[in-house]
Amino acid sequence: MAKITFSVFIIVSMTGLSLAADTLGTNHSIGYGETLVSSDLTFELGFFTPGNSSMSFLGIWFKFSPETVVWVANRNNPFVDRDGVLTFSNVGNLVVLNQSNGIVWSSKSSRFLRNPAAQLLDSGNLVLWDNSSSGSDEAYVWQSFDYPSDTLLAGMKLGSNLKTGLEQRLTAWKSMDDPSPGDYVYGLNYSQGLPQYELVQMDVHRKLFRTGEWDGVQFFEVSFSKNPVTVLMFVYNETEISFMFQAQNSQLLSRLTLSYVGALQVFVVNRSRSGVWSVMHKLPTDPCDSYGMCGANAVCDLSLCECVKGFMPRSPDEWLVRDFSSGCKRTIPLDCSKGEGFLEVEKVKLPDLLEVTVNKSMSLKECKEECLKNCSCTAYANSDIRGGGSGCLMWYGDLIDMRASEEQNYGQTLYVRVSASELDAIRDRTRRKIILVAVILSSIIGGFLLVGTALWFVKRRKSRIGIGVLFDAKTSDITLLDLEITKEDIDLPLYDLPAIVSATNNFSDDNRIGAGGFGPVYKGNLQTGQLVAVKRLSRSSGQGLEEFKNEVLLIARLQHRNLVGLLGCCIEGEERILLYEYMDNKSLNYFIFDQEKSLLLTWQRRFDIIVGIARGLLYLHHDSKLQVIHRDLKTSNILLDGDLNPKISDFGLARIFGANQKEARTKRVIGTYGYMAPEYAIDGKFSVKSDIYSFGVLLLEIISGKRNRGFSHPSHHHNLLGHAWLLWGEGRALELMDECLHNSFDRNQVERCIQVGLLCVQKFPEDRPAMCSAIGMILNFGYVLPEPKEPAYFTERNSGYSDGASSKESSHTQNAVTLTMPEGR
Ligand SMILES: *[C@@H]1O[C@H](CO)[C@@H](O)[C@H](O)[C@H]1NC(C)=O
Ligand SMILES: *[C@@H]1O[C@H](CO)[C@@H](O)[C@H](O)[C@H]1NC(C)=O
Ligand SMILES: *[C@@H]1O[C@H](CO)[C@@H](O)[C@H](O)[C@H]1NC(C)=O
Ligand SMILES: *[C@@H]1O[C@H](CO)[C@@H](O)[C@H](O)[C@H]1NC(C)=O
Ligand SMILES: *[C@@H]1O[C@H](CO)[C@@H](O)[C@H](O)[C@H]1NC(C)=O
Ligand SMILES: *[C@@H]1O[C@H](CO)[C@@H](O)[C@H](O)[C@H]1NC(C)=O
Ligand SMILES: *[C@@H]1O[C@H](CO)[C@@H](O)[C@H](O)[C@H]1NC(C)=O
Ligand SMILES: *[C@@H]1O[C@H](CO)[C@@H](O)[C@H](O)[C@H]1NC(C)=O
Ligand SMILES: *[C@@H]1O[C@H](CO)[C@@H](O)[C@H](O)[C@H]1NC(C)=O
Repeated sequence: MAKITFSVFIIVSMTGLSLAADTLGTNHSIGYGETLVSSDLTFELGFFTPGNSSMSFLGIWFKFSPETVVWVANRNNPFVDRDGVLTFSNVGNLVVLNQSNGIVWSSKSSRFLRNPAAQLLDSGNLVLWDNSSSGSDEAYVWQSFDYPSDTLLAGMKLGSNLKTGLEQRLTAWKSMDDPSPGDYVYGLNYSQGLPQYELVQMDVHRKLFRTGEWDGVQFFEVSFSKNPVTVLMFVYNETEISFMFQAQNSQLLSRLTLSYVGALQVFVVNRSRSGVWSVMHKLPTDPCDSYGMCGANAVCDLSLCECVKGFMPRSPDEWLVRDFSSGCKRTIPLDCSKGEGFLEVEKVKLPDLLEVTVNKSMSLKECKEECLKNCSCTAYANSDIRGGGSGCLMWYGDLIDMRASEEQNYGQTLYVRVSASELDAIRDRTRRKIILVAVILSSIIGGFLLVGTALWFVKRRKSRIGIGVLFDAKTSDITLLDLEITKEDIDLPLYDLPAIVSATNNFSDDNRIGAGGFGPVYKGNLQTGQLVAVKRLSRSSGQGLEEFKNEVLLIARLQHRNLVGLLGCCIEGEERILLYEYMDNKSLNYFIFDQEKSLLLTWQRRFDIIVGIARGLLYLHHDSKLQVIHRDLKTSNILLDGDLNPKISDFGLARIFGANQKEARTKRVIGTYGYMAPEYAIDGKFSVKSDIYSFGVLLLEIISGKRNRGFSHPSHHHNLLGHAWLLWGEGRALELMDECLHNSFDRNQVERCIQVGLLCVQKFPEDRPAMCSAIGMILNFGYVLPEPKEPAYFTERNSGYSDGASSKESSHTQNAVTLTMPEGR
């Protein structure tokens, strides 16, 4: 009985403390310790004193997370004591008064309000209206949403009202406990007639990031555009330019916050599990997001810079060591009198609008003519992509901050001016190669043909005459392809079975060099003397011929120096055979876990291998058209060429994801324990983040020279991940290093790699970094590395996965060639 009374008492006293109302009426006020609470209890308004500060501010925060302040009224004018009062002035403004009744902050509404009232809405918006004009559906006289601090909430606009001139921008706090305006600002820049959002460091006048200009449909990059939690809305008309987001799911709360160190982050929290915010998106996301990362006239692509065609590095030596800041210059200088032309740079984020002119009524053709007329015009493009493109954007001077598009629907074509002699040189190179004969196949045969078949047909005849015919059996569309274009993408010879039988000694055991994910691999010696690795896919996959061809054609397009190259294939009867380049040095496991050979792997070599694997994986995960999840990354799938450059193998028949697919589930888990992410091993859920997990294990294995599975230590029972975690926690991470490296390494580099390794093996997929961030962290592109959380399978040896078997082996003997796995799609 006594206890019940007691708790009732507590509740009563709490209500006494806060007004527990969402509205402040005329003649009322709020003092320190009193608050307004929105009706659904999400937001709270009141006075607060941040961190160690002795200053007081009026602000709005999430009630469940009082440290998450989303709005501050008197940012510029804090007061030292706790005697602030929020009330109405005699003309009806909301004001904060100090001890001596001086006005510290005011809502500055222009109307006189007889009976003012202020309400904290469920959206977090504090609004002011006149209660005496009730009934006339008065608009709010003032609202806090018009004056953002460092946080954008759902429904809040960022942009500019072109009629009133009111602008909304995010301005970071000065420090963790000082809400006064700091140096970072994120907002709209409309100075050149086309909107784009920019993150600027004000004290040094430096742009850090820009979304790219509005192309009529979207920005090249907006932190919200690619997630399932928020819907983005953009308005661009005569009176208003703004963007805002709305929540898609009422259970999830999100916010975009510009932190005091200049990071733009989208946070989410589940209402019913309130308290823990997770970062859903972060800018800059990868090195290519950093403004002007490649200097002038270069395009950033997957963290590397490439000069625009017709340009070359201004300082090749710096370029080689990945210092791209000096940018690119013309290979042949412009000579206006000799006639000039333009080269297309496709699918890029257009250069920054530094010196530009915009004319929204010109066509592309007029744009070109206009640009040609003026010698200092260096490039042009459409300003609006809708309806096939319209409008004209012309650049003068250097082209800054371009990046290649990683997604199909983003990026525009830029036309870059080059000299006549440069054009001639390029035309010559192309003319020699162009071979184009169109052959229309009768629809009777055509019914069975796909692109691949037609192209293979050509290659097989070793004919110089190219036929590119794409016949879509479903729609009966016939498309003629220019072989010059397709040849670069798909260049896959078809081999006869007898040639392969002879090259591998009839698949003899002596030639067998291993078992890949989907069948045995043999060393083959072709008649030409070329060595190849021959992968014989296990039979009876049930997969159709066309599906297989399509898949192989896709794989053939995956070309990267850190992926094993596909040289050709063979399809005869039941046989499906793939020919890969042969690697002299076998695979990484032969080196890293071998007492003698591991001595060859100095720290610099190991670091290069790590970076190589990361680049290969980045390419698989972020290629513009496909997204490939490897699903079985491990040391034995990392092959080493004669110079010990790493090449990822067995990626080909991994899972190719559709452009918008984020995660899939399979009933048949293919992978190797010790490298498998928990969500994949247990639930069969795989995504790029399950590859990241395996990458993290690899990283720690390469550093330590020890296997994750089978690791043992005299003083504990953890696996390698657990061991690394313990050392990390005790500040002794460097002791993880392979002893054979002695002291010949770069301390910071090693520590950073260990930290990235631990970040990659964190239990929850959403905590693990994406490959593009991971590589930026490894290469030290200025990322602040978060503290890793405890890894999954910390004490794996006790967890029931201790049989040591690779589940893959059993899986591929039972049910071998499932090249695509329909159950996951
Ligand atoms: C608005 O006015 C009505 C009638 O005068 C009054 O009952 C109500 O409490 C007022 N509301 C506020 C928020 O002041
Ligand atoms: C506010 O106070 C004034 C002066 O005491 C009074 O005349 C007025 O009616 C009050 N208004 C409300 C809404 O209570
Ligand atoms: C508060 O001050 C202490 C001592 O100066 C410091 O260690 C701590 O980081 C400060 N906390 C915040 C939130 O600034
Ligand atoms: C109160 O604010 C006024 C106006 O900002 C200022 O002049 C005065 O010094 C302040 N008083 C105290 C005690 O801070
Ligand atoms: C511009 O868009 C805003 C928001 O949709 C709308 O309120 C406004 O009326 C529009 N202005 C014009 C001139 O269309
Ligand atoms: C939020 O958390 C609740 C309770 O844990 C859960 O049932 C719900 O599915 C979660 N919602 C989302 C969208 O994740
Ligand atoms: C907007 O961008 C231009 C260059 O395109 C720059 O000169 C200007 O300072 C920027 N404006 C703001 C407010 O940052
Ligand atoms: C835009 O181009 C059109 C067509 O060439 C021209 O008539 C118009 O004057 C141009 N507008 C500006 C502002 O230059
Ligand atoms: C070329 O364009 C620049 C930038 O708009 C302009 O300043 C210059 O006068 C133009 N030159 C000619 C010859 O039209």
